[in-house]
Amino acid sequence: MKKEVKDVSMAVIRRLPKYHRLLKELMEKDVTRISSKELSTMIGFTASQIRQDLNCFGGFGQQGYGYDVGELYNEISRILGLTSHYNTIIIGAGNLGQAIANYSNFEKKGFHIMALFEKNPRLVGLQIRDIPVLDVDELGSYCEGKNIEIGVICTNKESAQDVADVLVNLPVKAIWNFAPADIIVPDSIVLENVHLSDSLYIISYLLKNQE
Ligand code: NAI
Repeated sequence: MKKEVKDVSMAVIRRLPKYHRLLKELMEKDVTRISSKELSTMIGFTASQIRQDLNCFGGFGQQGYGYDVGELYNEISRILGLTSHYNTIIIGAGNLGQAIANYSNFEKKGFHIMALFEKNPRLVGLQIRDIPVLDVDELGSYCEGKNIEIGVICTNKESAQDVADVLVNLPVKAIWNFAPADIIVPDSIVLENVHLSDSLYIISYLLKNQE
């Protein structure tokens, strides 16, 4: 049943977290089975889109039965890699870095935040939950032999490229960048930008055009 996942478009991949979230809610309500039509009503994609998306990974439904909610949830967790464990560090322990470190749900999904790194001596030495804030000068020696996979950039935008270069050289495998900067990394590094202000500006546009 499981197809090797090759050449699946990013558009499909970007819809998977939404399926994952919805299926979790269904499981919490003890729903065990769902049709693509019912999923469609809940999720806002057409039933045919849902079938096409899930077919990219081997198709989990059965004609006349629909999808087994638990099975589909587990499969999507597996496809998303949420059954793995990722050693993660955060650079910049200001408002956002601390907020991310404080969010324990990432831990539950396998993103193990090991330390934050900061250049401001007033923040170095803090503990966020049980996660230490270390001096950024210790970054290289701390990460040696620890197989750090994800680096999260929570610095100001002026520092973001320099921080990205340091992370690439550690090396990390992926960068989650929150700074509003278009950082450049080699193709071998997974880069995901989260530009919160871009999203907020869309709200502004939609509100403005509602008037
Ligand atoms: P902040 O100013 O509270 O924290 C940034 C921290 O990065 C500071 O503590 C600073 O000392 C540290 N830093 C700067 N360069 C560094 C370096 N080379 N090595 C180690 N540490 C370094 O800023 P905040 O609010 O946490 O935002 C972080 C980033 O996220 C910014 O780029 C901001 O534009 C972006 N952002 C934040 C949002 C928020 O809700 N806080 C919303 C949208 C974007």
